[in-house]
Amino acid sequence: MSKNFNIDYKDDYNKWFDSPYYHILYENRDHIEAKNFIEKIIKYLKLDKGSKILDAACGNGRHSIEIEKLGYKVLGIDLSKNSIKKAQKNENKNLNFLIHDISIPFESEFDAVFNLFTSFGYHTKKKDLDVLYAIEKNLKNGGIGVIDFFNINKVKKDLIENEIIIKRNIKFKITRKIHKDYIKKSISFYDKKKEYNFNEKVNNLSLDNFINYLSKTNLEIQEVFGDYDLNPFNSKKSSRLIIVLKKIPVK
Ligand SMILES: C[S@@+](CC[C@H](N)C(=O)[O-])C[C@H]1O[C@@H](n2cnc3c(N)ncnc32)[C@H](O)[C@@H]1O
Repeated sequence: MSKNFNIDYKDDYNKWFDSPYYHILYENRDHIEAKNFIEKIIKYLKLDKGSKILDAACGNGRHSIEIEKLGYKVLGIDLSKNSIKKAQKNENKNLNFLIHDISIPFESEFDAVFNLFTSFGYHTKKKDLDVLYAIEKNLKNGGIGVIDFFNINKVKKDLIENEIIIKRNIKFKITRKIHKDYIKKSISFYDKKKEYNFNEKVNNLSLDNFINYLSKTNLEIQEVFGDYDLNPFNSKKSSRLIIVLKKIPVK
């Protein structure tokens, strides 16, 4: 009995993120990490209280929740129905969540758009660009974007090819492989005597790839940080690639 959720690279959306097992495996990606980072980046950005912020690919809303607590109006969007359902339990008049594709812009504009914790690069390169165009369109002139991606050089250096993680009595077998254009993670496990197989593929994007993408937009790099404590980016050593963008005012 095998239940297979193998997702093709060209597939529009990776169902792994919508599966309850994704949340079981990564239950430690918690609100404390999100809170610490959000407090630091918001302090750095000095956005006016009451500003409108879009959390693009918000997952279960861990960052959105922290941003709203600091006095902002937040909309979190994600394609995962289950994550949004979970996030909506925290809604209030300044905090809302919607199922929405981050490559499709809204009519309204935001003071800032966040795309956090590797929520970019899951689709084709054309769609990567569409996500950036949507970020641009969603921002007011002079608005700020923050993209938090992995540092590909560090990922390559530290790659653990095979790993077993046991969570709630489920033994997750994880294999990771770096291909020319993407990193593929395969996750296999049994639960209640059924076999499950999921794949997660993320484009291998370096800072240079982002610079190339961004040259096609009206978004300008303001700063590049290398971790959640906002230390400067170092391509060999940094754990993260956190790009702060500004929408160049269109006259
Ligand atoms: C690694 S998770 C991070 C989620 C969240 N930002 C966090 O830190 O917990 C990546 C998220 O991107 C979402 N995602 C991927 N492609 C998307 C798209 N085109 N539109 C909306 N959400 C998308 C997935 O559903 C998933 O929730």
